[in-house]
Amino acid sequence: MKVLVTGGGGFVGSHLIEELLIQGNEIVCLDNFTTGKTRNLKSFEERITLIEGDILNPNDIKTALKDVESVYHLAAQISVSHSVRDPLYDASININGFINILNAILNRSVKRIVYVSTGGAIYGEPNQLPASETTLEDPISPYGLSKLVGEKYLKWFNLAHGLSYAIIRPANIFGPRQDPLGEAGVISIFLGKILEQESLEIFGNGTDTRDYVYVKDIATICTSAMGSKENDTFNAGTGKETSLNDLVSVIEKVTSYTPNIKYLPPRPGDVKKIALDINKAKSKLNWTPQTTLEEGIKHTWNWFKNTD
Ligand SMILES: NC(=O)c1ccc[n+]([C@@H]2O[C@H](COP(=O)([O-])OP(=O)(O)OC[C@H]3O[C@@H](n4cnc5c(N)ncnc54)[C@H](O)[C@@H]3O)[C@@H](O)[C@H]2O)c1
Repeated sequence: MKVLVTGGGGFVGSHLIEELLIQGNEIVCLDNFTTGKTRNLKSFEERITLIEGDILNPNDIKTALKDVESVYHLAAQISVSHSVRDPLYDASININGFINILNAILNRSVKRIVYVSTGGAIYGEPNQLPASETTLEDPISPYGLSKLVGEKYLKWFNLAHGLSYAIIRPANIFGPRQDPLGEAGVISIFLGKILEQESLEIFGNGTDTRDYVYVKDIATICTSAMGSKENDTFNAGTGKETSLNDLVSVIEKVTSYTPNIKYLPPRPGDVKKIALDINKAKSKLNWTPQTTLEEGIKHTWNWFKNTD
């Protein structure tokens, strides 16, 4: 199957491409490398078609879509704090860029799209955790809002044009290749600081919780969702809440290093607590995450130590 991965030069996209190659697909990657990196593609670059282009440019999309049968849409502005500072930029990529992709898909060979949304930011501060797919979507950041609007457009394209889709709502993804200098991805940021023997910064008092899911598990839920015929939405996490303070303890154990910690005021847009109910993905996609937090941090730490 010929497959397009938008944002394939990024952290999650590059792992998804690896999984799709293992499954025998022909890959086209569309990325403008704003946050993605060509080195993420290094180990398999000869086996894919790379189109360095922008989802805001219909011509780039047209080139990328030639003879493609399925699309994974990951290209996005992914930082909550960036979205708070510049909601218009966030919306231009996450809403307008996605509509460009959806428009371009119509009347082409594309049979199905998997849209990687967010489970960490779409529910806001739910009354009950873990949040299931039926929990009210009530984002408290422009990023959560733009991802939710993207979902609504996708459902409209299904209603109006019969486009077959699956929506994946991942929790906090972590693993090798996540940018330690970015604003998202606390595990990579902390491991990068530990490597440099710098202090870790925690926004708030460390009791905020997240649901950390390993990147390879997100790659497999995306391909499972593509294989399913249902137009549906799936949370992708572990169902477990981990506080920042507990996360630091696991990181200390894995790295055998006790970092200095600076506690800073909470950041606007960040939710206090989140974890995702994944029973739907378990029953309908036969998917369960395979990697524990500690194992995933070990893989990520090994990658950090062996990368320049
Ligand atoms: N990392 C997480 O914890 C997390 C959690 C939930 C959902 N997601 C979603 O997963 C997807 C991938 O995120 P990631 O963590 O790999 O981030 P990333 O920044 O590494 O990947 C995003 C990719 O999109 C590309 N891109 C951005 N704007 C573009 C444009 N205008 N045209 C073409 N390419 C463009 C970037 O260069 C980058 O390669 C995103 O849609 C994100 O919202 C990520």
